[in-house]
Amino acid sequence: MTELDSLERDLLDQVDAAADEASLDAVRVAALGKKGSVSELLKTLGAMSPEERKERGPLINGLRDRVQNAIGQRREAMAEAALEARLSTERVDVTLPVREAPEVRGRIHPISQVMDEVTAIFADMGFSVAEGPDIETDDYNFTALNFPPGHPAREMHDTFFLAPDRNGQRKVLRTHTSPVQIRTMRSQEPPIRVICPGRTYRHDSDQTHTPMFHQVEGLVIDKAANIANLKWVLEEFCRAFFEVDAVKMRFRPSFFPFTEPSAEVDIQCSRKGGEIRFGEGTDWLEILGCGMVHPNVLRNCGLDPDAVQGFAFGVGIDRIAMLKYGMPDLRPFFEADVRWLDHYGFRPLDIPSLVSGLTG
Ligand code: PHE
Repeated sequence: MTELDSLERDLLDQVDAAADEASLDAVRVAALGKKGSVSELLKTLGAMSPEERKERGPLINGLRDRVQNAIGQRREAMAEAALEARLSTERVDVTLPVREAPEVRGRIHPISQVMDEVTAIFADMGFSVAEGPDIETDDYNFTALNFPPGHPAREMHDTFFLAPDRNGQRKVLRTHTSPVQIRTMRSQEPPIRVICPGRTYRHDSDQTHTPMFHQVEGLVIDKAANIANLKWVLEEFCRAFFEVDAVKMRFRPSFFPFTEPSAEVDIQCSRKGGEIRFGEGTDWLEILGCGMVHPNVLRNCGLDPDAVQGFAFGVGIDRIAMLKYGMPDLRPFFEADVRWLDHYGFRPLDIPSLVSGLTG
């Protein structure tokens, strides 16, 4: 065997033995690189006599071609094997069951559902929706609502105050949705018929109170809106919301600075075993405050109490949700526990409307 034959066999063995791209490339450099064994042989051709070159040239060039080919083939084989391996790990079994789509798996929070229910009911009675910010000025949350500075009723609100601004004014997290009454009366002409659903905040926490909760405000202002209208609207609302023919309601005289006269409304329920159930029992749960809009409030909004009058109410959304859906405790509403949401949540496409039924 000639020297060239044994070099060739040696190189081809190395090509076969190369386990990966890197070692194959090392073989290539060692043979065909600038200082590679085959390249060095090619260089010797230049110094040969023409006869010698004629004989050695084809031998050396042939060796180079075969080594080059072998390397090329090996590289292709490796790429193919790598692709095979990748395809087999990435294989998708199209017969596997599909994961449930969001509209099947997802749940609407009872608060969102109840807000939509309430909106559908009042929209049917001709109310539109108004909104205001969660962070309010003292004026909107209190003063314009006829809470004079220093009035003890302010203390009853367990207010969260923000740090004073540059002018020493302390904004508040609104303690009720009533400031939206002021915003509406200052920006719209009577007749006014709005509801204002939203978040409210008070420093309070137990089974039926959370620091953040939800209310829906109602406001009606026109020439003759009276307390009988107020009572009818609330009764109609409760009948539609609780989906019953009659609801036992109790109007208790009460006090709010921004209404006169004022009442609180309780609804009959049972609290047996800690679970609040609606439509049975001998207990009462307060669900709303209401009254005739105080003349001072109308004046604070640039309205003439001798020309227009009206009523307002504020319903605790979380309370009526607990009552309607039999939830014993308010706190899990805000704990983001998916198991709770699975149990109490609503399907995304069960959109409440008076036509299709409120609860789907
Ligand atoms: N804002 C009152 C509260 O949060 C409720 C209310 C609203 C009372 C409108 C009367 C009229 O307790």
